[in-house]
Amino acid sequence: MSGTLPLVGAPNDRVDGRRKVTGSAPYAAEYPLAGLVSAVMITATIGKGRVTSIDTGDARRVPGVIAIMTHENAPRVDEAKAQDQTAQVLPLLQDDIVRYDRQPVAVAIADTFEHAVEAANRVIVHYAPDQPAISFERGERYIPKEIHGEPAAFRKGNPEAAIAASAARIDNMYTTPVYHHNPMEPHATTAAWSSDGTLTVYDATQGVGPDARTYAHHFGIPVSRVHVIAKFIGGGFGCKGTTWSHAVLAAMAAKLTGRPVRLVLTRPQMFSSVGFRPQTHQRIALGADRDGRLNGQIHTVTAQTSTFAEFVESSAVISQVLYPPANVAISHELVRLNTATPTFMRAPGESTGSFALESAMDELAVALALDPVELRLRNDVAADAHGLPFSSRSLRACLTQASERFDWRRRTPQPRSMRAGDQLVGLGMAAATYPTNRSAASALVRIASDGSVTVQSAGVDIGTGAYTAFSQVAADLLGVPLANVRMELGDNQYPTAPVAGGSQLTASVGSAVKLAALDARAKLLALVTADAASPLHGIAGDSIQTKNAGLYAQDGRGETYAAILTRHGLANIEGRADAKPGDEKKKYAMHAFGAHFVELHVDESLGTIQLQRIVSAFASGRIVNAKTATSQYYGGITFGIGMALLEQTHFDDRTARIMNANLSEYLVPTNADVPPIEVIIVPEEDTIVNEIGVKGIGEIGIVGVAAAIANAVYHATGIRVRDLPITPEKLLS
Ligand code: MOS
Repeated sequence: MSGTLPLVGAPNDRVDGRRKVTGSAPYAAEYPLAGLVSAVMITATIGKGRVTSIDTGDARRVPGVIAIMTHENAPRVDEAKAQDQTAQVLPLLQDDIVRYDRQPVAVAIADTFEHAVEAANRVIVHYAPDQPAISFERGERYIPKEIHGEPAAFRKGNPEAAIAASAARIDNMYTTPVYHHNPMEPHATTAAWSSDGTLTVYDATQGVGPDARTYAHHFGIPVSRVHVIAKFIGGGFGCKGTTWSHAVLAAMAAKLTGRPVRLVLTRPQMFSSVGFRPQTHQRIALGADRDGRLNGQIHTVTAQTSTFAEFVESSAVISQVLYPPANVAISHELVRLNTATPTFMRAPGESTGSFALESAMDELAVALALDPVELRLRNDVAADAHGLPFSSRSLRACLTQASERFDWRRRTPQPRSMRAGDQLVGLGMAAATYPTNRSAASALVRIASDGSVTVQSAGVDIGTGAYTAFSQVAADLLGVPLANVRMELGDNQYPTAPVAGGSQLTASVGSAVKLAALDARAKLLALVTADAASPLHGIAGDSIQTKNAGLYAQDGRGETYAAILTRHGLANIEGRADAKPGDEKKKYAMHAFGAHFVELHVDESLGTIQLQRIVSAFASGRIVNAKTATSQYYGGITFGIGMALLEQTHFDDRTARIMNANLSEYLVPTNADVPPIEVIIVPEEDTIVNEIGVKGIGEIGIVGVAAAIANAVYHATGIRVRDLPITPEKLLS
């Protein structure tokens, strides 16, 4: 309470917990606007071709139907995506072209959801199908120019020669399938146009600012005429990080009908047009000397994108960060397939790339007969592949602390050497890293004469605990109880904030909240030190602390914010700040690090894998709230379990149809699949990354989990599975 932030903040309960569990926290599909009507999307049943005709006669006879919106009557909009979006085109019923399975081809709008569903079921779409390309062998290959603004390839030294001259060599292919995000809350949009041409949208989005700019772009209106609100969203994982077709279609339907429209995706439609993690084929080649020191490393990636837009899964980037040797090459190649456009999914790049790299490191450890933890310790580095020193790097501490807690020493290295009854026992590990990102963000801190504090920022809490974390930053810096802070988020009319993605929201908005709180404090200090009626009159400002909801000198003299504001006849005082990155990314490599240790049982007769225990350590700079942070790590690790063992989207090779667009055949981990998980927070102070020293925690949890599990499966069985997910069939064949 002295105006500073603890390195590991209090594990406070969520400030919004009661509203969430009682159902009073509003989500995008829960705003009861007057005259609200329902829209239901109708999606293509072919993977490529044209719509030849749409028969809406039967649908329009359903009671309560207001309109069937097709490419023939849809409002004209700009289909090209706004500049801050990654893809170039959003299918918005502007033509008859079908580019992928489940592309929206019409929208049924009716007075009730049930009538809209009935009408949607009665719309008959006729197609002229073409042969889609759905496999890497059939799609057009090309080299992308860049990855989200960074070079798509990098080369240093001569890795081929270095590997060829090495005592130990590994050169293997690793593959990962398509994954879909599947947050609990489906995508949903409630859109209303007012008579003055202003668009109001309650949207399931990770970023109200970028979302508003996208609507403004498609409808050709100033962003000042778009109001986007996202007070609560039920998970995102990246699919809600950009604005997709259905959201703009809801606003188009509202324009067409002159009514407020609610559009909610069905669970099968969660597999249609809202992005996914692309399939990757990755080659990793490593060369090391007899002591295990890496001499050369090659990481090449082939990933898929769509036929009409580009997204690069940046899987090889991690090879520039974890243990880059003197000779290293990374590259990315894309294949255009007839699918929707892939997108960011929790730790995009690092999650898939770490499966390849950290599996290969385990294979190298086997080739060297060296302990895999020791191999990683011997290849710890002080700078990334570009020679930038790390602002802080606690990989060694993560490896050491997690391996001790896990009791890694009991592992006998020989595969198939450990058993529990009739089960094979496997112990495996892998390292993790994720970049520290931030973007420009602003915040407002208002201290009222009743002592209450209101903090505003446009940032969205995607379920991670942002309301709680930012409340804690303000409460700690102003020395007020957490309960006195009212945190307001998720409205693009609040001070601007970036998308809650790339694990950047706490770093970005938290820094702005800190600076805004300091601005409010400076304004109060200016008042009291110049005020003869204040007990702090004439005292040097830098010796005054914020505590007990006021300003106090070392000797105890001071007064509350309420007393200061009341005496000056002020209803409140406001602090404002714009926080933005400086040039630190040019001078430093900034990343969080971690390590996972996994114990599992394999039943050889069934090929089944039962996880027993996971111990993971993470160093992510300052942790604002130890409880919500630990939940993020648990969530990331659980996501990694799904990636390793259960999840994959199946496409029919002939038609490009997704064959398991539902949660009974797209398997996600349930409680029975998740073992006890122990998370160690390694305290880490980093004064370079940003004003509050946080590195981000939402994504690093998944990084390396799939490799740690695959490595444990190898240790249990002697079978190296390089193709995710690790299913019983792959262990039995
Ligand atoms: Mo995250 S995939 O950056 O929303």
